[in-house]
Amino acid sequence: MTAQPLQQPAPARELVLSLSGVSKRFGAVAALTDIDLDVHAGEVVALVGDNGAGKSTLVKILSGVHQPTAGTMTFCGQPVSLADPGASLALGIATVFQDLALCENLDVVANIFLGKELNPLQLDEVSMEVKAWKLLNELSARIPSVRIPVASLSGGQRQTVAIARSLLMEPKLILLDEPTAALGVAQTAEVLDLIERVRDKGLGVVMISHNMEDVRAVADRIVVLRLGKNNGVFAPDASNQELVSAITGASDNSVSRRSHRRQSQSTPTEHAQA
Ligand SMILES: Nc1ncnc2c1ncn2[C@@H]1O[C@H](COP(=O)(O)OP(=O)(O)OP(=O)(O)O)[C@@H](O)[C@H]1O
Ligand SMILES: [Mg+2]
Repeated sequence: MTAQPLQQPAPARELVLSLSGVSKRFGAVAALTDIDLDVHAGEVVALVGDNGAGKSTLVKILSGVHQPTAGTMTFCGQPVSLADPGASLALGIATVFQDLALCENLDVVANIFLGKELNPLQLDEVSMEVKAWKLLNELSARIPSVRIPVASLSGGQRQTVAIARSLLMEPKLILLDEPTAALGVAQTAEVLDLIERVRDKGLGVVMISHNMEDVRAVADRIVVLRLGKNNGVFAPDASNQELVSAITGASDNSVSRRSHRRQSQSTPTEHAQA
């Protein structure tokens, strides 16, 4: 009998974050109802959904800004409750909010170390500058100088500084709320590359986006929220039509109509060829 080669299963990636039945009410508004979400190490999960679907609320729960009204969260296998943003950061969850919260008048080094200065009583500028360069180099970031004020950087470069800042505390999970929303084509591509590099460092990444092209380019899984509820998980090769239907809840929309039109236009040719 010949020995069969062992079928080694692909090593299961560590489950960094797992939400089960998470709900959040604001008075009469049910912003989130019974949400389940898993994020593994080295994985980009895109969180998509229409305006008001609950994406930012979910990110705020994960970053300790809001507390859920029901449900459980585990982080690296341990049940956790995130009482405030400090608790979330201490666990290893870093958030880059949409407004980035950078200080325009301060330089790149000062922004990266804001509130986490090395030796705050007698600033160790040299070590901070070295560490800032190291972080930016790891991300292959294109920042001309770390000693220029953030006000003189482009949108993509600012996003890079905000992501570098979030990596300073060596998190296991990074949450990005619309990282490409205000960016042009080239800068979007740069930020998407950067997200891939963060994933390749082994971090779990949750990225909110309204742009399906960006989502498909970088996500390993696409999680759809609709009216505060889970409404499907898709692979990155999902069609625009599938995603738009899950996001809007309607199978009759301009994307599906366009796709039907294309199909019906191509059918006669296919018949002719057959
Ligand atoms: N602090 C709050 N108080 C009351 N209601 C809130 C609060 N924050 C969010 N909501 C409500 O919760 C729902 C979800 O809002 P959320 O901001 O999470 O949506 P979103 O998916 O991020 O939308 P967008 O794409 O527009 O950013 C909305 O109905 C919103 O009005
Ligand atoms: Mg939002």
